[in-house]
Amino acid sequence: MSSRAKKGLPALLPVLRLLKNYKLRLLGASVALLFTAGATLSMGRGLQVLIDQGFGGGTSDDLRNAIILLVAIAAAMAFGTFVRFYLVSWLGERVSADIRKQVFDNIVRLHPGFFELNRSGEIMSRLTTDTTLLQTIIGSSFSMALRSSLTTVGALVLMFITNLKLSLIIAVGVPLVLLPILVFGRRVRKLSNQSQDSIASVGSYAGEVIQNIRVVQSYTREQFEADAFNREVERAFEIARRRIWQRSMLICGAIMLLFVGMSGMLWEGGQDVLSGRMSGGELGAFVFYAIMVGSGVATISEVWGDLQRAAGAAERLVELINTQSLIAAPEDPVNTPSSPQPQLRIDNVSFYYPTRPTQPALQEFSLDIEAGRSLALVGPSGAGKSTVFELLLRFYDPQQGRLLLDGIDVREMDLQRMREHIALVSQQPALFTGDVRYNIAYGKLDASDEEVIAAARAAHAHEFISALPDGYGSHLGEMGVRLSGGQRQRIALARAILNDPKILLLDEATSALDTESEHQVQLALQELMHNRTTVIIAHRLSTILHADKIAVLEGGRLIATGTHQQLLGDCPLYARLASLQFRDTDVSGEASSDPAGEHGLSAPG
Ligand SMILES: Nc1ncnc2c1ncn2[C@@H]1O[C@H](COP(=O)(O)OP(=O)(O)OP(=O)(O)O)[C@@H](O)[C@H]1O
Ligand SMILES: [Mg+2]
Repeated sequence: MSSRAKKGLPALLPVLRLLKNYKLRLLGASVALLFTAGATLSMGRGLQVLIDQGFGGGTSDDLRNAIILLVAIAAAMAFGTFVRFYLVSWLGERVSADIRKQVFDNIVRLHPGFFELNRSGEIMSRLTTDTTLLQTIIGSSFSMALRSSLTTVGALVLMFITNLKLSLIIAVGVPLVLLPILVFGRRVRKLSNQSQDSIASVGSYAGEVIQNIRVVQSYTREQFEADAFNREVERAFEIARRRIWQRSMLICGAIMLLFVGMSGMLWEGGQDVLSGRMSGGELGAFVFYAIMVGSGVATISEVWGDLQRAAGAAERLVELINTQSLIAAPEDPVNTPSSPQPQLRIDNVSFYYPTRPTQPALQEFSLDIEAGRSLALVGPSGAGKSTVFELLLRFYDPQQGRLLLDGIDVREMDLQRMREHIALVSQQPALFTGDVRYNIAYGKLDASDEEVIAAARAAHAHEFISALPDGYGSHLGEMGVRLSGGQRQRIALARAILNDPKILLLDEATSALDTESEHQVQLALQELMHNRTTVIIAHRLSTILHADKIAVLEGGRLIATGTHQQLLGDCPLYARLASLQFRDTDVSGEASSDPAGEHGLSAPG
């Protein structure tokens, strides 16, 4: 995602189109805009009346009338501004809220590969910074630009009507004054963009350090990180200092130029007033309009930069809204099989992760998982075991081959229906900020308390949950940081159990448990796996021995399948993995109760 607009202002069009949903308010805002512009312009006439008739008329009645006129105009202006400000800001907030929702609505449905290519920090800043930028643009800058254009044109016309000669002088003088200001202003703006970028990088630097604070402290890198952070902050400060220096110069120059110009005009106009060719009120009104034209042009040029930045933001947001998921359900999906125990089949699958297009994660991989039976996947780390699960859940589609559920290609089914049948307990159990109950019931929000507790009991989690300060209402912190690894794993397990899926995928679901609790969870799992199609990635032989079939993977290829006994004889890799774990016990598979030890099958050595 690029940070500056490629298309320029037209990029804002899709955003402005959202305003169509609020036609009435848009109409109200436009009327208020026209009305206040008109009121502001008539202020010049009011001034003229005040000077010529109020001051020049001689009676206090004249003065009173002139002042009443001014107050009436001011009241109209105030009321119009109230309506305009409320409606326009409302539209800005509303449209940016709509865009935020649209962006999030789309990104939660995107294929997981998208998030490997786009950093989550960047997507988050799209959702917050970019939408806030749009909100200020629509809610203020845009209406400022419109308002200034209206008043500038109006004031210009009135200026010429009031006094032609002076207007011509101004017409030549204004560009002379504004040109240097505009050029300088552009430089300021470039620096201000830079300074925003550098602030963003300061933020993301701090974020990473805070997230990994334990690593930072355990390797005693506090000073190192603090120094590095200091450098980032100082760099940001230096850019900011250059910007405010330029800006101060800009303001100083602008004031000087403007007042020199004004004085020139007052000199010329004053001569006319002295000689009676023009009234004092006319000159007053003229100066008023001239100031309006000047400030209007200045506002437009300032807002112009904002508009361009907003165009960049809009472009990036529209890009996010329009990104299509690579994993989509077909137009008319085949009915998802309704058999209570589906049969899985992986048919000659080759798969490369999108970020590693030359290195196959799975190669010509075929495997049958019989209905209602369990299969254990074993193999060294990086063999492709977890990848099989990613494909079964259709987080990716393979480049070659098919995955079949009861004989139907998963790509032909409705994505959500298909996934509803499957529960995954992943290698890194993922918990959400929230309490225990919320986390267990994540896949089945309408579960009753009894169901939640039963699932927790089956996962052998009930005991430790009850011991937490608030039991099932205990908050787990961000990503469940307040639990131990094994406890997190059991919550994830309870979540899968509660979902009562037809297909259960367990990725080292008991790896973080001690032998004692593993034994207990194992018993629960056996019950769960009974008569349910299950694929289990395990590195402990005690788990593997309970599976109906074992498949051995190496380097993305299936190298053998069979039972424990068959594989001990047929597959040297399996025999080696098994012997490593059963170093000083019997490898024959007469599972003694504490064979697992510390050595995982998937992590030999
Ligand atoms: N998101 C990803 N993008 C690119 N490559 C990946 C991705 N995930 C895994 N890989 C690579 O694919 C290969 C298989 O990974 P996989 O996670 O399936 O291994 P595994 O058998 O589950 O290993 P472990 O036992 O360590 O969990 C590895 O070489 C890994 O580096
Ligand atoms: Mg894995």
